[in-house]
Amino acid sequence: MTKILTVCLGNICRSPMAEGIITHIARRENLEFEIDSCGTGGWHAGEKPDPRARQYMKASGIPIDHLRARQIRESDLDYFDHILVMDNSNYQNVLNLCKNDAQRQKVKLMLSYWPESPIQEVPDPYYGGEEGFAQVFYLLENAALNFVKSLK
Ligand code: 4NP
Repeated sequence: MTKILTVCLGNICRSPMAEGIITHIARRENLEFEIDSCGTGGWHAGEKPDPRARQYMKASGIPIDHLRARQIRESDLDYFDHILVMDNSNYQNVLNLCKNDAQRQKVKLMLSYWPESPIQEVPDPYYGGEEGFAQVFYLLENAALNFVKSLK
């Protein structure tokens, strides 16, 4: 079974939204998969996703209230097959944890799955307004559609 991990900084905005969106699309495609998300930082461990992320996802028909934040651990790098990071800072932080090429090869920028994307990194919406969450959803949905297609 394919194992997918989405990664951002706090694990309360982008990566839980990515987890929800990928789950939604992969179920629709009858794919066998396991998925989780985490943050490179641990400040929000144990918390639900940010209220704005939960609100936007619920309004989009993909509630993520059940998710809880956690920090990345070294065992994730062996356990998961696909490690999808949101921005270049996440990418560097995860690569710094990698011990071998097999682990490093699993790490991809989420938006590398959407080559037509206007930007290459999923922007951190934490310090901005509601519109940031709409942009994150739009970027993640397009990348997730291609990512799930690539698994089939
Ligand atoms: P995320 O957003 O990485 O998309 O979950 C953030 C959430 C919290 C913080 C930074 C980014 N923070 O500094 O607390």
